Amino acid sequence: MKGLILAGGAGTRLRPITHTSAKQLVPVANKPILFYGLEAMVHAGIVEIGVIVGDTRAEVMAALGDGSTWGAKITFIPQDAPLGLAHCVLIAEEFLGGDDFVMYLGDNLLEQDLGAFVRSFETARHEFNPPMAQILLKKVPDPHRFGIAELDADGNVVNLVEKPENPPSDLALVGVYLFDPMIITAVKSIQPSPRGELEITDAIQWLVDQGMRVSQEELSGWWIDTGKLTPLLEANRLLLEKIETRLDGVIDEFSTIDGRVIVEAGATVVRSTIRGPVAIGAGAIIVDSFIGPFSAIGALCEVRNSEVEHSVIMEASKIIEIARLEDSLIGKDVVVNRTQAKPRALRLMVGDHCQIDVE
Ligand code: TTP
Repeated sequence: MKGLILAGGAGTRLRPITHTSAKQLVPVANKPILFYGLEAMVHAGIVEIGVIVGDTRAEVMAALGDGSTWGAKITFIPQDAPLGLAHCVLIAEEFLGGDDFVMYLGDNLLEQDLGAFVRSFETARHEFNPPMAQILLKKVPDPHRFGIAELDADGNVVNLVEKPENPPSDLALVGVYLFDPMIITAVKSIQPSPRGELEITDAIQWLVDQGMRVSQEELSGWWIDTGKLTPLLEANRLLLEKIETRLDGVIDEFSTIDGRVIVEAGATVVRSTIRGPVAIGAGAIIVDSFIGPFSAIGALCEVRNSEVEHSVIMEASKIIEIARLEDSLIGKDVVVNRTQAKPRALRLMVGDHCQIDVE
């Protein structure tokens, strides 16, 4: 079994961050989203992993290297334009080399382990009429926003529809799929959709229409497609819920640490209150500030005379004299600075290398 992680794409829904950075490398709980997917694959025993890369390939390749940090062997597969999830399968044909594979959308996060999902597919492959694909589904309250599956009485997939007006079920497709190499024939047989992409739902539907079996499993635990601000902050919250306290940095005697907090080595906390769950990255400096629940402060950041809550602040950014910063995503190397004396609460999404002076 091989792995295919999709880390290209346009990332339009996460601009301005994606003007300069790969959305899959935005950190949640101070770790890039992409690393969680890669770790889940390795944990499920899949180490030969292809990674689809687009315009942000340099950054993604630098972050993953050859994969040996995770015990994986990574092959990068460049995609010239984001032509769809099924197009990613098409260009990975040589890497896949006729093996079964698990495909994982690089901006998705799952609470559940991948291992059980992979094993149930492997077991089903020895059954009479084995599945050519297995999809992962999750009940959602708003099915018209997702790709939705319709099942028959045996629980096999009979129909897949994208963002239906009249949803046939409330079972949304989660961004993890298991495939027999037959999917390559499927992606070669379909036409681009009206939005100009080769859709993986059309390729799976093609399998069904040829009389092949497509099985499914329902996901337990949460699943988040982090491609937009609100779910990204939600993912940060859910992952921070799981941290254990580790105080490797320097915390002065005038500071208070409440709840579960990580302060990485080289970070300094001075005259401040940190109320967990919070993660503070290596080399960060927190002075005369309050860092509230569900905040992830990246490495080398500086927070002075400010209050931060429920926010992701990426590497090397500075928050200076901001009365309150909440529900925010701040890119790398940003300065948010108050120059006048009127305090106010801010909710921001700021791309990399910006300076914002609040007057
Ligand atoms: P999407 O979030 O569906 O697409 P996108 O990245 O283009 O984002 P947006 O809609 O905001 O413009 O993609 C899911 C994952 O698959 C994501 O990690 C990007 C990746 N991807 C590719 O690698 N190649 C592609 O052609 C597409 C469409 C997505």
